[in-house]
Amino acid sequence: MVEGTEGASGLALRLYRDLADWYPLLTPVEDYAEEAGFYRRLFEKHCRRPPRTLLDLGCGGGHNAAFLKATLACTLVDVEPAMLGISRRLNPECEHLQGDMRSVRLGRPFDCVLIHDAIAYMASRGDLAAAIATAFAHTAPGGVGMFQPDFVAESFEPGIEAGGSDGAGRSLRYLEWRDAPTPGSETYTTDMVYLLKSADGTVEVAHDRHVMGLFARATWLELIAAAGFDALAVPFEHSAPNTAGHEVFLGLRPGGEGEA
Ligand SMILES: C[S@@+](CC[C@H](N)C(=O)[O-])C[C@H]1O[C@@H](n2cnc3c(N)ncnc32)[C@H](O)[C@@H]1O
Repeated sequence: MVEGTEGASGLALRLYRDLADWYPLLTPVEDYAEEAGFYRRLFEKHCRRPPRTLLDLGCGGGHNAAFLKATLACTLVDVEPAMLGISRRLNPECEHLQGDMRSVRLGRPFDCVLIHDAIAYMASRGDLAAAIATAFAHTAPGGVGMFQPDFVAESFEPGIEAGGSDGAGRSLRYLEWRDAPTPGSETYTTDMVYLLKSADGTVEVAHDRHVMGLFARATWLELIAAAGFDALAVPFEHSAPNTAGHEVFLGLRPGGEGEA
């Protein structure tokens, strides 16, 4: 555990604790190849220093890192030890550290900092600002911070999704129910039900309620700039139709090669 990890994240989601071993069946690593390629190109385009190191805050199962590690030396941080265990199995060559993205301080900079979908667990402006400040504190001059919320307030759509996959002798299917936020609220809830089929055919049913932050595009840009970055939003390029219109937020840390 590193500095800034003290105190529970307050999440207490079964998916990231006792059910963590099922996580790779919920969202298979192969599904990340296309988006990880997109993130790599964005880092390469916007980094004003050679992009060699990456800090992934809220790394989860390490599914983005599984692809990004081909060109970036990755340090992976998550608040849940069980998720670090899953990522370690997939990415044994990467450094793994337990920490809370709101407060962890590793005391060294990285060329690139990624907070992928885990940023959605920042369910208040204060938490979101704290996570962005952590990213800034770890971004080298000329480096890039990247934030990838599933939704901003303007693009949010309530709905249901289902999915899952089969593994060695077991299978997982899930139903995700994204509820409409209360008007004026900066959070929404996603109820997830998991059907976990073991090798002997028995099925366990489990439920988690995920409370996620939902902020206006302008709030994102304002908080990224307030942390000290030059803020911008770029279109998310992906072949999945449900990602049309989505954006990725970037924070460019001033400085870098050829500058003061
Ligand atoms: C959906 S998973 C991330 C998956 C990841 N994008 C990947 O490539 O596999 C969300 C992760 O965020 C982590 N998380 C939630 N709140 C956190 C916090 N405050 N600090 C660090 N990690 C956090 C959870 O423990 C969980 O592992």
